[in-house]
Amino acid sequence: MKLLLKNGARIEIWRDLAEASERAALLFCEIALRSVAERGRFRVALPGGSTPKAMLTLLARAEYREALASAWPLTSVFWTDERCVPPDDPQSNFRMGHETLLRHIPSVPASQIHRMRGEDLPERAAALYSSLIESEFGTSDPVFDLILLGMGDDAHTASIFPHSPLLKDGTGDKLVAAPYVKKLRAHRLTLTLRPLNHAANVIFLVSGKEKSTLLDKVFASLEEDEALPARYVRPLEGELTWLVDEEAARLLSSEPSGLSPHAHAPV
Ligand code: 6PG
Repeated sequence: MKLLLKNGARIEIWRDLAEASERAALLFCEIALRSVAERGRFRVALPGGSTPKAMLTLLARAEYREALASAWPLTSVFWTDERCVPPDDPQSNFRMGHETLLRHIPSVPASQIHRMRGEDLPERAAALYSSLIESEFGTSDPVFDLILLGMGDDAHTASIFPHSPLLKDGTGDKLVAAPYVKKLRAHRLTLTLRPLNHAANVIFLVSGKEKSTLLDKVFASLEEDEALPARYVRPLEGELTWLVDEEAARLLSSEPSGLSPHAHAPV
């Protein structure tokens, strides 16, 4: 593994997605056990897309399942974003998380699995999920123990897409939004930058050559650039780790870039 420290982020470059996924599963276990030991609970937000499938599948394996036996009953599962589809739709991020992991972990109480209601009217689903988060965390400033994210080949993350108004609204009071995404001709549900940048730990999992150009651009500077939403995820106090494979990292240089790592993107 090659380690880069850029712009306040820890970037671990692993040979391939399998290795990066194993590392992600290990970090997941570490953070879950530490959260339970320190706070008696573990609250995590799962991503969508296909990259995280290998990691989630690993966590469903006996050795990881057993390693987390004490944590699962104290775990609350959320999602970072959702497509506006029913939960049994092949496009559903809830369905992906349930199929790859949660259906294999009966010790996570169903009452602690909180899907975004993609089947509802988007604005209503976003408002409901905001209220749910506030009541689960007991505050309008939730601190997730872990948020797992991917990055699209347009540098979107969660469902915050390039030039999204959510990039301007980083300091807004919304926890969850229902943006209309022009290129998809569809609404999405997504956590906003606010909870993302208040998390105790954020882990990105990125794989593939098709993401290398934008990954290099994300780390080229700390300047605002609405074409690069992933650049805006920089936890104010939490740990930011990027787990990337060699293909995605092929253009990343070890040269320090831009401003000091202590500067923070607008949140
Ligand atoms: C989604 C995801 C999205 C995803 C990226 C990367 O709903 O699609 O939440 O943000 O993480 O699109 O997707 P891949 O990992 O499949 O490339």
